[in-house]
Order: sequence, then C-alpha cells, then structure tokens
Amino acid sequence: MSSISEKSMLPSRLLSCLIAFSLFLLISTSLSLIEFHQNSFIPKSLLQFTIVDTQIPVKNPVFDNRISDKGKTTIQDSNPRKLSCDKSRALLKVYMYDLPPEFHFGLLGWEGSVNQTWPSVSDRNKIPSYPGGLNLQHSIEYWLTLDLLASNAKNVVRPCSVIRITNSSEADVIFVPFFSSLSYNRHSKPRGTEKFSVDRILQEKMVEFLKGRKEWKRFGGKDHLIVAHHPNSMLIARKKLGSARFVLADFGRYPVEIANIEKDVIAPYKHMVSTIPDDNSARFDERPTLVYFQGAIYRKDGGAIRQELYYLLKDEKDVHFTFGSVQSNGINLAGKGMASSKFCLNIAGDTPSSNRLFDAIASHCVPVIISDEIELPFEDVLDYSEFCIFVRSADAVKKGYLLNLLRSVKREKWTRMWRRLKEISEHFEYQYPSRDSDAVDMIWQSVWRKKMLTELNVHRKNRYSRSQLK
Ligand SMILES: *[C@@H]1O[C@H](CO)[C@@H](O)[C@H](O)[C@H]1NC(C)=O
Ligand SMILES: *[C@@H]1O[C@H](CO)[C@@H](O)[C@H](O)[C@H]1NC(C)=O
Repeated sequence: MSSISEKSMLPSRLLSCLIAFSLFLLISTSLSLIEFHQNSFIPKSLLQFTIVDTQIPVKNPVFDNRISDKGKTTIQDSNPRKLSCDKSRALLKVYMYDLPPEFHFGLLGWEGSVNQTWPSVSDRNKIPSYPGGLNLQHSIEYWLTLDLLASNAKNVVRPCSVIRITNSSEADVIFVPFFSSLSYNRHSKPRGTEKFSVDRILQEKMVEFLKGRKEWKRFGGKDHLIVAHHPNSMLIARKKLGSARFVLADFGRYPVEIANIEKDVIAPYKHMVSTIPDDNSARFDERPTLVYFQGAIYRKDGGAIRQELYYLLKDEKDVHFTFGSVQSNGINLAGKGMASSKFCLNIAGDTPSSNRLFDAIASHCVPVIISDEIELPFEDVLDYSEFCIFVRSADAVKKGYLLNLLRSVKREKWTRMWRRLKEISEHFEYQYPSRDSDAVDMIWQSVWRKKMLTELNVHRKNRYSRSQLK
C-alpha cells in the first residue's frame, strides 16, 4: 500500500510471499477451528487458543475513559467479576524493566514512597492520571503499562492476552516502560539554565541502561517492545534501538531499516471526541453535512494537499472544511460536527497519520482517507475498505472527483459501512481496565502476531544453517 512498506519488502519478495501465504494458512486454520464473534469480523478468540474462559462482558458502555471536566482521564469502576490469568493462559509472557519512576509515572507527577517503582493499580482512585488535552492522543504508553501492572493485581478483571512475569529468561517480550510521548510533549525543551532537555537526558540514560542489560544482549534487543507513538518521541534513541519492536503511529519519520511493517506495530491514536453510543448514532438522513474536515494547515511534506482540497471544497454548501487545530475546548464541537456528517476527511498532514481517523471512527462518520503513506492499526485482521473510503492524493485534487465520488455513495452502501463502523469501533478504545478486543488487547495480539512472523523467518533461515552444524 505505501511505498515505505513496499521498499522494505523488495529485498526478499519471494520470502514475503511465503510468509504471507503461511500467515494466511495459519489464520484460516484458526478460523475454521474457532467460532466467530457475531458482531465483529475478528473472532474474539481467534488468536487466543489458550483461553478457555472468555466470559468477560464485551459491550459495557461504562468503560469509556472520557476527558472529564478537568481535562484529565477518569477511570471508572469495572464489573468485579473475577477471572484469573496465569502464565499458562496468556498469549505473551512479558517482562517489564523496573525503570525508575522518572521514566514513566514520575512524568505524570506521581511520587511513590521510598523505593516504590510502580503505583498500585488495584485501587483505581490511586492511579495517576495522564495529562489531558492533546497529550492524550499518544497516551498508548500509559495504557499498555497499566495493563501489565494490572495483570499482577488480584482484583482487576481484564483479558489474558499478556501477563507480566518477573523472570526475564522466560519472557516472550521485554517491555520498556518509558513514557516517551509524554517526555517529548512535556520536556523536549531545555529549561532555564539546563543545557539539555529532560527528554534527551532520559533517552540517553535509557540507551545506556538497555545496552548494558543481559536481556538486551540476549537477542540484540529484538524481543524488546518500545512505545514511541508521538512521531517525534525517541528522536535521539531510535537509531540506537532500531533492532527493537516499536509501537508507532506511522513510519513517516523513520528510515525503513529502523521501523517497518514487518517488525513494528501500528497503534491507534486515542481518539479525542467522545464515543457515540451505538443506539444514539445518527443515520444517513440524520447527518446533514456531507463532508467534514477540521485541521491544521500544512504547507510542507505531504500536507500541501490540505490546502488544495480546501480551495476545491470551500464553497460547497454541505461541506464543513475549516483550518485551525482543534484545541481541547473545541473537541466537543468537532465531535458534534463529525457525528452529524456522513463522511469525515482524513488528509495527510505533516505526518501520514493523525488522530482524526480515530475521531471519525468513534463518531461513526465514514472516514475518507487521503494519505498515500498511511499505515493502519491491525490491518492484518481488519479490512478497512469495509468501513473507509480510500482516495489517492492524485485523484483527490482533480476538480469534482471527490464530491462526485462521495455523492455517488447512496444510503444503502453508506449504511453498510456505518454498521461496520459501529462493530469495529470497540477495537479503538483505550480504557482501564482493558477489555476483550479493545485497543490495548488488540495491540498485544498484534505484537504476538508480529512475533510469530519473526519466528517463522528465523526458523526458515535455520533450515540449512543448523543442519550443517551436525
Ligand atoms: C531503599 O533502597 C536502598 C538501596 O537498595 C536501601 O538501602 C534502603 O533501605 C531502602 N529503603 C527503604 C525504605 O526500603
Ligand atoms: C528463570 O527461568 C530460567 C529458565 O526457565 C530458569 O533456569 C531460572 O532458574 C529462573 N530463575 C529464577 C530466579 O526463577
């Protein structure tokens, strides 16, 4: 799809075909073995062979971490049903470094007692909250870390895709709990008389720490998972840690040898608008606006297209197209606008991805993706063409093209996509505790699939090299 992923495939096109075929076989075999979840194309337990008991309730609207009045996340009470998760049932056993709090919850202003590394996650009221506003879009680091901590808390009910273990030799994945996006957002400029920014110092410390660890040396960092969702996070460390698996928003600012679709995981942004409850979602005729777009204007990189589209669309009466980045106080307004629009534009900005796509999904507004280099979360198990419309940039800027295309989508076809949006939107929800097939759970499952793919590669390479050792 994107030139980046194509480039990365070139050296071993045959191998890629084989991998794709094997993966297809793996998935189709699993499909035939396991029953489907009725509402979603992704079978609930497609990749969780080991999970026997899947009775966690899936649709329960109270679990939405909205931005509260104070602009901070609120974590709400969960159903107290108990479901134990142990090493034998989890898809992935994860070892998490006990990095000092300055790398993670300390950045949220949390201070534990002396020598306390992690906050308690059993008592929801004591969990430090992530700063609100636009910071939240990249809060993936926070939700994944909380979920790992929760996997050891006795009273938290959550899916069993991963479990945190304390013996790193037994781990499938080594998790690096650095809140790199927040570190970038909050501390990327030196303060006062400081020579270097806190963000830079933390990255340098982390590289030094990792390179000295036996866990890193074991596989050269390949089994490490590093979250760097903000496109500018880990700017200094990324080159030195490129062998690790990253959790990213896109590959826009990465050279292909540091990050690529074969090893890394694309995670959704945390959407900023509130999720529309299913039964409250406006239908085709109840959405007066045909096309909605609100965003910043960019004149460089891939973003020039926003301006071109603006001149093409600005005079159409059923089109809402305005510039200006959505600040926290404008989010409600944007949410209302999207929820009353049939189509929501997702146009490349200074990076290929943006949280607008996930706002559109949460608003059940059919996304129109005009971003040739975009990478999409969980695309190996989700067919985005069922609920999104893709338009090549070169086509989108042809006079009349976009509006003709969108006006030709009639009620019936639009409604099919809208129904699908309502089904898949649960996969894009970040929440604590995590729930089956929500964003956190989907990320872990995605890590698992990438790991299987890597292992397939390794085993295939071993075929002849190992037998010659005999
Ligand atoms: C904190 O850790 C240090 C070094 O391991 C130890 O000497 C000290 O007693 C610990 N303090 C507390 C309160 O546990
Ligand atoms: C950690 O796991 C390895 C491999 O299973 C085992 O040999 C070792 O004894 C374990 N270490 C501890 C402290 O349990």
